[in-house]
Amino acid sequence: MTTASTQNIARPGVIELSFGKPDPALFPAVGLAEACREALADGGAEALPYGANAGPAALRERLAERLGAAEQRATGSNETLISGGNSQALDQLVTLFCRPGDTVLVERPTYSLALGVLRDHPVVVEALPFDEEGLDVRALERRLVEARATGRTVRALYTIPTFHNPTGVSLAAERRRRLVSVAAAYGLLLIEDDVYRELWYDEPAPPSLWSLAAPGTVLRLGSFAKTLAPGLRVGWLNAAPEQIARVAESGLNDSGGCPSQFAAVAVERFLRAGLYEAHVAELRAAYTTRRDALAAALASHLPAGCGFSVPAGGFFIWVSLPAGLRASALLPAAEAAGVSFVPAARSHLDGHDGGLRLAFTLYPPEQLAEAARRLGETIGVALRA
Ligand SMILES: Cc1ncc(COP(=O)(O)O)c(C=O)c1O
Repeated sequence: MTTASTQNIARPGVIELSFGKPDPALFPAVGLAEACREALADGGAEALPYGANAGPAALRERLAERLGAAEQRATGSNETLISGGNSQALDQLVTLFCRPGDTVLVERPTYSLALGVLRDHPVVVEALPFDEEGLDVRALERRLVEARATGRTVRALYTIPTFHNPTGVSLAAERRRRLVSVAAAYGLLLIEDDVYRELWYDEPAPPSLWSLAAPGTVLRLGSFAKTLAPGLRVGWLNAAPEQIARVAESGLNDSGGCPSQFAAVAVERFLRAGLYEAHVAELRAAYTTRRDALAAALASHLPAGCGFSVPAGGFFIWVSLPAGLRASALLPAAEAAGVSFVPAARSHLDGHDGGLRLAFTLYPPEQLAEAARRLGETIGVALRA
């Protein structure tokens, strides 16, 4: 039991590249304070009661309009439900849409903490191959054919097709189209974790699976955790109206209403005040600089045999290690040298440990450069050992 009030407290002397979170110095605290004041201005008539089960109508409408304007697919407010963030929504989708014994597929690697959410459920979790173009959709098809032949139910695929955690890769355009058609053909639910969509650095994010798929195929999870603040616990689900209704009528929402009512109303006031676009633009500028700083420093400090590519968005650079090195084994030495990372083994079901995830969002460029230097030195020492 910890006495801390927040997750992820940095250790003195350690540059914590393992922390996949936004920089608190960039939280829009002033705008949010005003938004909270606005949310309470009418005596809290909307913000303080139990919220509507699908979330405050004004936020659902505003979000639907915003998403529709940015994508090649109109999104209705009846296709939008306010969640308590992507972690909560993923947990709830597995509760409501999967049965005990069903198989849920993930990418190899995947977001390590999503594995924890899935492990809380009586489902079988299996990984699919993944490469520099994202999920191997042909391998998915083969898996689905096999499952059909053996009578196994593969219910859902949890996927992060855009600025993937932990690799930073985005699913190639042709694979996106194929993925949604394969899923529709096999009745596979695609749970699209789209948490990094707005944090693109070079050009706008590729089309979401949600925007490409036939209705009912994709359950898309979005969140304000990375673009406003994770402590708000405000996210959203896009799904077909009957799927939205299933979640809104769940025991959980029926009992507690919208899981983030107060914060959701405050976020709506923040958006209404026109503060969001400028804030996200500021994040993009700051994180582009940090991504570039870390990439440049890795290029000069990593020993031969290491590899990485520069992500077009999101929070992470993925470094592959020379053959023979294990990331988990390197971690204690790296931490002693003052840098942390997430070892590959946490994102792989099969224990593969040949890479590391580095978050570039939390520190200014000089510290990122120093972190890369420490990392390069640690790997160099391990290679010479
Ligand atoms: C891929 C992915 N999904 C979900 C989350 C958590 O989202 P939320 O804070 O909305 O629960 C994260 C945070 O690191 C993430 O990287």
